Amino acid sequence: MSSAAQPPRIFVAVDRPSRAEAELDLARLGTHGYAVKLGLEFFVAQGPDGVRQVAGARPLFLDLKLHDIPNTVAGGVRSASACAPLFLTIHASGGPGMMRAAAKAAAEAGAKRPALLGITVLTSLDDADLDAIGQRGPTADQAERLAVLAREAGLDGVVCSPHEIARLRKACGPGFKLVVPGIRPAWADAGDQKRIMTPAEAVALGADHLVIGRPITQAEDPKTALARILAEIGA
Ligand code: C5P
Repeated sequence: MSSAAQPPRIFVAVDRPSRAEAELDLARLGTHGYAVKLGLEFFVAQGPDGVRQVAGARPLFLDLKLHDIPNTVAGGVRSASACAPLFLTIHASGGPGMMRAAAKAAAEAGAKRPALLGITVLTSLDDADLDAIGQRGPTADQAERLAVLAREAGLDGVVCSPHEIARLRKACGPGFKLVVPGIRPAWADAGDQKRIMTPAEAVALGADHLVIGRPITQAEDPKTALARILAEIGA
């Protein structure tokens, strides 16, 4: 399940600021059976060279959550494509024009074309936060509105909470990728995640990919934790 045509089901979130720490996390996991997710904490500190070095030959999810005017985001997508990520995130709330420009820039990357995922409503925001910034809630309605806009603009999928999977699958159809964080195996600590679901439950509801960090990276034996999760979802 780890060829470019069939990306891995599990994206391991490596939330570290240093190359040494990130490399240590990944060395303990081996090279196969997962994609590595690197986000702002790592990218801002280590840049594209650090991303390429740490990801190595592993499939990469570059979680940069780009949000700006269409021309700038298109440029960001072009620059990020040099890291050859399989997946790259942009904010769907940047609007249809921004998402279309990003999709066009991604397509121009040819064989290195990243799949673009829209961020809908951050799970750190609740209905009161949406009201405060002038967005129409409830959050689940806004997430669906943005996911449909993302699909219409040519994005490949969205990142969503496990509790939105069924609704977004229905609204966006079978080919649209749903990438889901907030995952906790029954045997792992919840940590600061509140609205959690197990890997098997999320996949049964229709998640295409799961983003999992600490239950794997902080496990006593990360490789066994990953293998256990893969077995649980039948991957
Ligand atoms: O360690 P844990 O499994 O909670 O890591 C989850 C990863 O998914 C982190 O990189 C976190 O930033 C990311 N994420 C999330 N919730 C979202 C979007 C992204 O936990 N709504």
